[in-house]
Amino acid sequence: MDQKSLVLVKPDGVRKHLIGEIIARFERRGLKICALKMLVMTKDQAKYHYAEHVDKPFFPELEAFITGGPLVAMIVEGPNAIKAIRTMMGVTDPIESTPGSIRGDFALDKGENVIHGSDSPEAAEREIKNFFKPEEIY
Ligand code: CMP
Repeated sequence: MDQKSLVLVKPDGVRKHLIGEIIARFERRGLKICALKMLVMTKDQAKYHYAEHVDKPFFPELEAFITGGPLVAMIVEGPNAIKAIRTMMGVTDPIESTPGSIRGDFALDKGENVIHGSDSPEAAEREIKNFFKPEEIY
C-alpha cells in the first residue's frame, strides 16, 4: 500500500551539502518525491512538529537547532514508504546506525542527525499539514 512520509533534511544536512545525496537515495530506491520546499522553521512549527518532545530537557537545544537555518521539507511516497525510509535513515543516535544508512554514513551527533522521517501514518498526516497545503502536493 502506498504511504506518504514527511521527510526533513535538517539544517545540518543542508550545511553538509547532503540534499542531493538524500533525494537521490530515495529516488534510486523507487520512492517518489511528491512535494518539496526549502524553508526556515518557525518556533511555532517546531513546537507542533516536536509536540512529543516539548517537555524534554533537550527541547530548547533541539528548537534552536531546527529553527537555526534553512532545511528541506519533502513528502516521499511509495509502498510502505514510512518503514522503508526509517530503515534507510538509521536510528536516532547515528553512533548506533549501520553504515550504509543515511545517519550511519553522514552523522555522529544525536541532536544533529541530518534527517527526519515520519514514524507512523498518523504522524505523517499531522506533520505534512505543518509544511504543505493540499495544492502543493503532486
Ligand atoms: P528525530 O528522531 O528525528 O526526532 C526527535 C529528535 O530529537 C531526534 O531526531 C533528535 O534530533 C532529537 N533528540 C533526541 N534525543 C536527543 C538528545 N538526548 N539530545 C538532543 N537532541 C535529541
